[in-house]
Amino acid sequence: MTLIFAHRGSAGTHPENTMSAFKEAARVGADGIETDVQLSKDGEVVIIHDEKLDRTTNASGYVKDRTLKELKTLNASATHKGNFGKEKIPTLEELFIWLTDNQLFCNIELKNTVFLYPGLEEKVIRLIRTYGMEERIILSSFNHYSLVNCHRLAPELETAPLYRDGLYMPWIYAKAIGGSAIHPNIRAAPDALIQSSVSMGVPVRPYTINEETEMKRLFKLGCSGIITDFPEAAVRIREEL
Ligand code: G3P
Ligand code: CA
Repeated sequence: MTLIFAHRGSAGTHPENTMSAFKEAARVGADGIETDVQLSKDGEVVIIHDEKLDRTTNASGYVKDRTLKELKTLNASATHKGNFGKEKIPTLEELFIWLTDNQLFCNIELKNTVFLYPGLEEKVIRLIRTYGMEERIILSSFNHYSLVNCHRLAPELETAPLYRDGLYMPWIYAKAIGGSAIHPNIRAAPDALIQSSVSMGVPVRPYTINEETEMKRLFKLGCSGIITDFPEAAVRIREEL
C-alpha cells in the first residue's frame, strides 16, 4: 500500500509545520507527516520551513538569529488565510512527545542547504534515540553530504535523498550514499522510475502530490509513499481505488 505523508503537517488546509497541522494529519488518517527542521540561535531544533520568518510568522529575519525563547513568542499561523488561533513554532522535541501517543511515521527534512547548522544532525539523532523513534523516522535532505553524515552517525536510521531534477538510476545513487529510499520531486518521478526503484528494493516517495490524477497514478503503480499537502483527500482517493 502507498503510504500517505502529510506535507509540513497538512499544509493545504492548516498553518504549515504547526501542531494543529500535525494533529490534522492524524485526524484524517495519514500514515505519516513530513516536516522541516532548523536550529535556533541557541541551538534548539525547531520546526519551520523557510530560513526566514517572514512568510509564515508575524516576524522577519532569520530563524538562526533568534533564541528559542524569542521564537516561541511568534505566531506561526499569522499569515495563514484560515481561521486559526495563535500557533507557536514547535520544537522537534515537542513533536516527538506528541508522536509517542500515536503511530505516525515522521519524515524529518534537514533544512541545511542555505545554512549548514553545525551539529544539526547530531541533535536530531540524539532526540530520535532519546524518544525511541528509530523505526518511525525517515531523514531526508537536499544536502546529500548531510545524509552521508547522518548515516555515519546513525546507520540504523533510514535516510532518503531529496532531489528536484533527473538523477541517473537514483536507487543505485541512494544506496551508494548510505540511503535506503528516494524522495524525488514529482517532475522527476515518471512511471518507469517508480517501478524500477520499487523493484530494486528502494522505496520511492515523490513530493508534493496534490492533484487527484497524480495520486491515482502513484497509488496504482504501487508507489511506496506520497508526500501531499492534502492528506484527507489522499486517504479518500486511496480508499476509493
Ligand atoms: O520533503 C519533500 C518536500 O518537503 C521538499 O520540499 O521545499 O516543501 O521542503 P519543501
Ligand atoms: Ca520539506
